Amino acid sequence: MSTRISVDNCTLIDLPKIQDPRGNLSFIETEKHVPFDIKRSYWIYDVPGGEVRGGHAYTNLHECIIALSGSFDVVLDDGREKKIVSLNRSYYGLYVPPMMWRSLENFSTNSLCLILSSEPYSESLYIRNYEEYVKNNQQDI
Ligand code: TYD
Repeated sequence: MSTRISVDNCTLIDLPKIQDPRGNLSFIETEKHVPFDIKRSYWIYDVPGGEVRGGHAYTNLHECIIALSGSFDVVLDDGREKKIVSLNRSYYGLYVPPMMWRSLENFSTNSLCLILSSEPYSESLYIRNYEEYVKNNQQDI
């Protein structure tokens, strides 16, 4: 069975939104809304105009990317196809499986990007070389 990852394996998750005249509320739970155990959260903020974050893949790490405030683009690349997902609502999460090359670009002023991750931080989970990534994603893993 082929397990080669494609950009189509990244899915937009419609998170719960409790509307209230006092202000809206959204939430996210392990297994219920994302198909992994959330072991780490980190956020990217104060991004100067034109800067790009990311630009790597993970070998064995699932993540969910949320634009808590403002907007930015997630550029997905599986080595064959590219797809740009623009995030600008705090009740959408983009699920990204392992072995997907992704960059974060086009940040608006004051945007806040929350990333929920299935693993604690470890540099050993990164693939930072694009050619190496493409080579690895051409094989069944
Ligand atoms: P990195 O993931 O390379 O950022 P980006 O993909 O946005 O360019 O992380 C940048 C630095 O921050 C790197 O030296 C490792 C450190 N870092 C942690 O210590 N813990 C974390 O959870 C993350 C995401 C990064």
